[in-house]
Order: sequence, then structure tokens, then C-alpha cells
Amino acid sequence: MTNKLLPGFKLGNHHIDVPLVLAPMAGITDLPFRKICKRFGVGLMVTEMIASRAVDMGRVRTERMAELGADEHPASIQIAGSDPVFVTEAARWAVGHGADFVDINMGCPVKKICKQTAGSAMLKDEPLVARVLEAVVKSVDVPVTLKIRTGWDDSSKNVENIARIAEECGIQMLTVHGRTRAQMFHGHASWEDIGLAKAAVSIPVIGNGDIVGADSAKEMIRISNCDGVMVGRAVQGNPWILGEVYAALTGAPRPATPTPEERWAVVFEHMNNLADHHGIQCASKLARKHVLWYSKGLRGSADFRGHFQVMTGWQQMLEAAEIYFLSLGEDDQNNELSHAA
Ligand SMILES: Cc1cc2nc3c(=O)[nH]c(=O)nc-3n(C[C@H](O)[C@H](O)[C@H](O)COP(=O)(O)O)c2cc1C
Repeated sequence: MTNKLLPGFKLGNHHIDVPLVLAPMAGITDLPFRKICKRFGVGLMVTEMIASRAVDMGRVRTERMAELGADEHPASIQIAGSDPVFVTEAARWAVGHGADFVDINMGCPVKKICKQTAGSAMLKDEPLVARVLEAVVKSVDVPVTLKIRTGWDDSSKNVENIARIAEECGIQMLTVHGRTRAQMFHGHASWEDIGLAKAAVSIPVIGNGDIVGADSAKEMIRISNCDGVMVGRAVQGNPWILGEVYAALTGAPRPATPTPEERWAVVFEHMNNLADHHGIQCASKLARKHVLWYSKGLRGSADFRGHFQVMTGWQQMLEAAEIYFLSLGEDDQNNELSHAA
């Protein structure tokens, strides 16, 4: 007897047992953060987006973005671009960097990307979508997956068409963020639109947009009939939420709110991971962002944020964070795991 809400699915030679995907988030879901998230039950990891033209330049930063941890497989490297030559080159490069899957981004709403008709701007040009997908699928021998929005704007939603094109081109898994590009991050994700994509194809469809805990994950699955869920912003400063969604998907007991000691242990490890991966100078900038998210909703977080934000010394930051997180009592925390919602 299993209480699994979703059975998982096959992706090439892999079986994704727990279809819980950490959303790729540029500047956030780097290796240091993914290492933290993995232990909360993520079944499929995706790197942040790597522009296909950046691959050509061989920058240290690009190499670092593609680095996969030994224990995070199966994992996907996400690439973006609209020129089939550059995108296929990037796909081969991703496989050379250990990607079990290559994910293509056609959902990014950022102006700089869309101006080059990449990211979500590609959704306006279905023949171009097909050309890029076909070229990439042909160029690598690992499964190629696609992440999209539901269309460019309300008047040109084409999520079903794009889903069908993807399947015809050999894409093996589709992730749908239930917003159009015009919506950016405003309004609500349409889980019904994710359902339209799901009904149009037989490849696994991952639903994405506005999951903030177990209940919203279950509701998205109910409405869209999706095969897996992807969680993004709610994980910022709150990787425990993944454990809650994992429990909902697998029938495991709902995890308890972390104690202050457990919370600090995760923050400490995350800070150390950042320093190891990026070096202390870059880690200081990134830690400011992450540690402030970790403190969201906790007692005294506004004061803590005020002085943590202006600190520059790494050791000083570590000590201040330790004092703050360990000064919290059980009652100083929001007992809802979904506090980042
Ligand atoms: C700061 C930030 C960076 C993002 N970077 C990427 C990216 O590199 N690739 C991508 O496919 N989506 C990216 N996204 C979109 C997320 O993967 C996800 O689709 C979106 O946040 C909706 O999911 P959520 O409501 O669970 O956050 C980004 C989102 C945010 C907020």
C-alpha cells in the first residue's frame, strides 16, 4: 500500500520517484542552495538559467553556474537562447558538464532576454520554438525538457500549441509556469492553464506557480492533473517548505517546524556552502540576501536586518547571524512552515 499522491515518471534512464522540482531561480538556486534543498526531498534539480552565448565565452562564472553536486543527480542544466546553433552547442556543453537532462528556458520574462527573442519571447514564434527544440533534441543523447509560460499575453495564450509542438519535437517533460509573460509575477498563476497543457500531451507535465505549501501543491495537482510540482519563491529562506510538499506527495508525516537550533544549522551550512563555492567576497553579498530571507517572520527580524545588511566582514556576519538565530525561542518563530508565502 502506498499513499503516494503522484506515481512519479520515467525520464530517459531515470525514474523520478518524487516529482518535486526545485524551480530554477537565477542568483538564488546555485549549488550552495541546492545542496540545502536536496535533503528536504527534491526529486529533480535544475540549475539557474545559463545563456547559450555565455557558454561560448568560457567565463568562470558560467562554469560555476553549471557545477552539479555529486549527490544531486538526476539533475538538469537549464539553457536559454533562440539561435539553434548556439543553443545546441550549449546543450552539448551542458551534457559535458554532467547534466542528466537539458532544460530549455522559454519562460524568462526579463527584457534583456526577450529583446533577443529568447526566453518567453520565443512563445510568440511557434516555428522558431520548433526549430530550436528539434535541433537540441537531435544534438544530445540525454532527455531534453522545456520550461514555458502560458503565452506572451492574455490575447495570445498558446500553452496547448506549444505543449504539442514540444512533444512532437521530442521534448520529454514540460514545465508550465501558469502565467503569461505580460503578467511577469503579478496576479495568480492559472492552474487551469497548466491543465490545458497536461490534457494536450502525453509527456509528463510539471505545474509551477504560487505553490506555498502542501495545501497549494495538492490543489494545483487537483486542478491541473499535473505529474509533478515545481516550487520557487516560497523556498527562499524557507527550504523546510520542500519537506512539507514532499510529505504531501509521498504520504510521509508532515515535518515539524524547525527548532531555532535546526534553523541556525541550516543557515550556517548555507553560509559555508556559499563561501566555499563563490569565495568570501561574493558569498557576503549573497548571504545578505539569503540570511535576511531566513529571518523573515521571526521575532526581531527587522532590527536584525537593519544591522546585518550593512555588515561587511564575513566573520562578523557569521557571528551576528548565530547570535540572532540562537537567541530565538520556540515561540519566536512562526509555526507555519509556509511562512515565506
Ligand atoms: C529571482 C528569480 C529568478 C528566476 N530565474 C529563473 C531561471 O533562471 N530560469 C527559469 O526557468 N525560471 C526562473 N524563474 C522563474 C521560476 O523558476 C518560477 O517559474 C516562478 O518563480 C514561479 O514559481 P513560484 O511561484 O513557485 O515562485 C525565476 C524566478 C525568480 C523569482
